[in-house]
Amino acid sequence: MSVPIVRTLAGLRSVVAAWRKDKARIAVVPTMGALHEGHLSLVRAALAQADRVIVTLFVNPKQFNSAADLAAYPRTEEEDADKLAPLGAHLLYVPDAPEIYPPGFATTVSVTGVSEGLCGAKRPGHFDGVATVVAKLFLQTGADIAFFGEKDFQQLHVVRRMATDLDLPIEIVGCPTVREADGLALSSRNVRLSAGERAIAPKLVAILDEASGSLSAGAPAASVLEAANRSILAAGFREVEYVELRSEADLAPLERADRPARLLVAAWLGETRLIDNVVVQPAGG
Ligand code: PAJ
Repeated sequence: MSVPIVRTLAGLRSVVAAWRKDKARIAVVPTMGALHEGHLSLVRAALAQADRVIVTLFVNPKQFNSAADLAAYPRTEEEDADKLAPLGAHLLYVPDAPEIYPPGFATTVSVTGVSEGLCGAKRPGHFDGVATVVAKLFLQTGADIAFFGEKDFQQLHVVRRMATDLDLPIEIVGCPTVREADGLALSSRNVRLSAGERAIAPKLVAILDEASGSLSAGAPAASVLEAANRSILAAGFREVEYVELRSEADLAPLERADRPARLLVAAWLGETRLIDNVVVQPAGG
């Protein structure tokens, strides 16, 4: 069994139109490919809640900050299709670039607020690129429900805000982060880690978990975050871009875990940038 691949908007629309006639509930799982168990968990969640599941694969140039990062991004379409087939995904949409950005394309979807700070601080234009392509993928597929990973927690907030603000008739579902046995969050970028870096990488989430415990016990964020920052560097990371406590509901910065919260981090291990986040139970909750 293989998954049908469609590369044009016209092709996508004719498949979707037939499904709509059957009153099918349609899900979309946007990805940039190089699929791993994290992506596949979204596809399984989608299959459980919809009649038809479209996986999209588009390495979106507008959300990359460097041409080198874009060029180095893994591209494994055949393997991706092979991974999706046994799950029962119904369609793989791999748009040719002009189907997303036709000549003369001049529109940007820009979300303020939740896109600022954290990953938005050091990656100018990144979330505009994400919001623009995700808006297009929602409109092109016409899906009823979309699945995103909590691994990219700020992205999930940006997408929710965008869909709400533009009245897009689509439900956004966030799914838990899938991890390796040692805790490292699965990421398409993990293949770039050397053996030595791979051994260090899971310390990131271990440090977050410990800090999360201190915050839930009532410790102030400033001292906990400072200690976490030092521990990440001591573990062998080159640079901590940020480690911050934010409200789960709206990403507002918090001085204490006085409500449901997330601890979010971005750190460089050699030439690889890793991001992760963990839940922080409210202190006294
Ligand atoms: P990509 O990095 O390919 O991720 C696609 C989806 O998989 C995102 O929703 C992401 O949060 C989720 N994901 C990645 N790693 C995960 C993990 N370990 N556990 C659970 N989910 C995980 O995110 C993007 O692509 C792009 O920005 C995109 C939304 C497709 C727009 O271009």
